[in-house]
Amino acid sequence: MPDLKSQLYRDLAVQLGALLDGERDPIANAANMAALIWHGLPDLNWAGFYFRRGAELVLGPFQGKPACVRIAIGNGVCGAAAARGCSVLVPDVRAFPGHIACDPNSRSELVVPLVAHGAVLGVLDLDSPLPARFDDADRTGCEALAALFVAHHRRAPDTRETGDDIDPASGCRLPLPCRADLDAEGQRIYDRLADPGGGTLRGLRGPGGIQLHSPELARRSRPVNHYLRYEAGLGGRVRELAILATAREHDSDFEWSAHKPAARAEGVAPEIIDVVRWRGPTAALAEADAVVVDLAREIFAARDVSPRTYARALARFGPRQLVDLVALMANYAATAALLTAFAMHPDDDQNAPLPRLFFSGG
Ligand code: SME
Repeated sequence: MPDLKSQLYRDLAVQLGALLDGERDPIANAANMAALIWHGLPDLNWAGFYFRRGAELVLGPFQGKPACVRIAIGNGVCGAAAARGCSVLVPDVRAFPGHIACDPNSRSELVVPLVAHGAVLGVLDLDSPLPARFDDADRTGCEALAALFVAHHRRAPDTRETGDDIDPASGCRLPLPCRADLDAEGQRIYDRLADPGGGTLRGLRGPGGIQLHSPELARRSRPVNHYLRYEAGLGGRVRELAILATAREHDSDFEWSAHKPAARAEGVAPEIIDVVRWRGPTAALAEADAVVVDLAREIFAARDVSPRTYARALARFGPRQLVDLVALMANYAATAALLTAFAMHPDDDQNAPLPRLFFSGG
């Protein structure tokens, strides 16, 4: 029997591979995967996904009866699997403290986390009306399916590391700019970038080095960046929070890892940084922080700033500073575009990369 079960999961893995092949949309793929499991495994009354949103799991595609939409990390079987980062097999849900009974017919449950880069992005949840329906073969089989799903949606960083178009000296697709090729003004910018005390976070091995391949662009854009960062009067905390929120919305690992320490140095607490990183709810943040994060999310993810968010931002910053704040975000969105196009990857492994999330928005 266990062998038959292993064979069933191997067949499901082949079918899942065929379903995912050539399709990148995670919601469509999750929906098909839930349907595949629902029809492929006997004795289920629910099969589907929850995706992580901040400190909560939010319902994703599924088959079965309507289910609870939000589960706090740590609550129920799903929240336990997300908190522990490993599968939870429950032979009798009535014996599991805190089990959340979406369907009173459920008697046993298996929850497998979706893990990428050591971060839990969500869970795959299976319920059965039979007691002790799931065993170790189900756990291993479902973990293999979940791994396939996560691997399929993982993006560039892994492949980039082995990409043969990366210059080891610059860490990106362009070589380091050559000082001798630059005019006097270009050399002045080069020297400032090469100087560890020159005011840039990453020097030549970063967006400044990329920009210097177009010296005229570097000459014109650096003063604008300097104005927005240091002369617009936004203050260090607003500046770094705005940059982090922009980096998050652009999945820019490099920008994130360069600015996370800067945000910490400006007094942004790790819990606030985590809300930005996971696109968690901003309701628990102080208004001064929440408005900056909400504004960045609405500009870059929702692509529509609500009248309420606009009014909050205007009340806090006034017209001139609000224009500067949005321009600062746009400035770092432009930097993120350069970093993406030229495949600059972070040199700082201490900061885990940004988890790639399945939905945008809060
Ligand atoms: N039983 C789950 C809740 C989700 S439903 O089963 C779909 C839990 O305890 O986390």
